Amino acid sequence: MATPDTPGAGLVDTFGRVATDLRVSLTDRCNLRCSYCMPAEGLDWLPKPEVLTDDEVTRLMRIAVEQLGVREIRFTGGEPLLRPGIVGIVAATTALRPRPEVSLTTNGIGLARIAGALAEAGLDRVNVSLDTLDPERFRTITRRDRLPDVLAGMRAAADAGLTPVKVNAVLLRGINDNDAVPLLEFCLQHGYELRIIEQMPLDAQHAWDRSTMITAEEILTSLRTRFALSEDPVERGASPAETWLVDGGPARVGVIGSVTRAFCGTCDRTRLTADGQIRNCLFAREESDLRAALRSGGSDEEIADRWRLAMWTKKPGHGIDDPSFLQPARPMSSIGG
Ligand code: 5AD
Ligand code: SF4
Repeated sequence: MATPDTPGAGLVDTFGRVATDLRVSLTDRCNLRCSYCMPAEGLDWLPKPEVLTDDEVTRLMRIAVEQLGVREIRFTGGEPLLRPGIVGIVAATTALRPRPEVSLTTNGIGLARIAGALAEAGLDRVNVSLDTLDPERFRTITRRDRLPDVLAGMRAAADAGLTPVKVNAVLLRGINDNDAVPLLEFCLQHGYELRIIEQMPLDAQHAWDRSTMITAEEILTSLRTRFALSEDPVERGASPAETWLVDGGPARVGVIGSVTRAFCGTCDRTRLTADGQIRNCLFAREESDLRAALRSGGSDEEIADRWRLAMWTKKPGHGIDDPSFLQPARPMSSIGG
């Protein structure tokens, strides 16, 4: 089995997993305040000098692609479209060789304006977060009245060829738990791929409660009240989403059972925060500081070695069900989804 000392080793860990999918958080800021993510007043944002510059991010991605076997890069946030240099960063990423697959997870605000430029910069596709089609519930969940902007963003992304447009939804008990069916109807109508995600303990307020989480099982039961879903999921691979054929296909719906159907055993992700820390897991309680290595003149090789070491100690799973589970200090908005 490869170790971090094997010449030319990729991002391997002690359980034999290999990380080839890099998630890059470009900012911890956001223009929504989803209740399962942030408090109404927002968070203490990272001070600007701590955030990697466009050139620093690009250098780290180049090292990952050229030396560490990364084949897929996804930009996240906070809200990645709030990063002023986003189009240039995407263009620099798609110019890397071997060219990685490049995608972005956004809340859709501002996407209508920028989708064309992103497509021109080589972006392959987008995931847009949308938890309800009801304007009132949208406002309750996100604390902002921006549903029309999100819908316009999705349409613009599809028109610009950033396809398949995937739609990510989180269901909250007593708020939008009946929205699975209308969301799937909407996505089928527009040719978007819906994926419903179990809520994870990554909220800044630490209010997550296992007993009120809507489970993958409940999501499927709810969808089956209106649609015929295939008996078993189609396939999973390293993807966290299990997909089911809808009404005989070819349309599919995805369910991401992060908690009840964990996929840690096949995880192929490595994460870079906006302030230059490597996290080997969403739920990791430790990070490795690449910003310090960058800013103290570290060579590409030294940075690659640090990154390998950071991944080597990845735990086998998130351990949410262990009595000793502790939520990571950073919330989702500063780790990236
Ligand atoms: N659990 C599950 N999904 C979450 N997201 C944000 N916070 C959580 C959470 N605690 C989702 C957002 C977005 C993506 C980045 O992650 O809705 O779709
Ligand atoms: Fe912003 Fe995403 Fe958090 Fe909502 S879930 S507040 S869109 S970072």
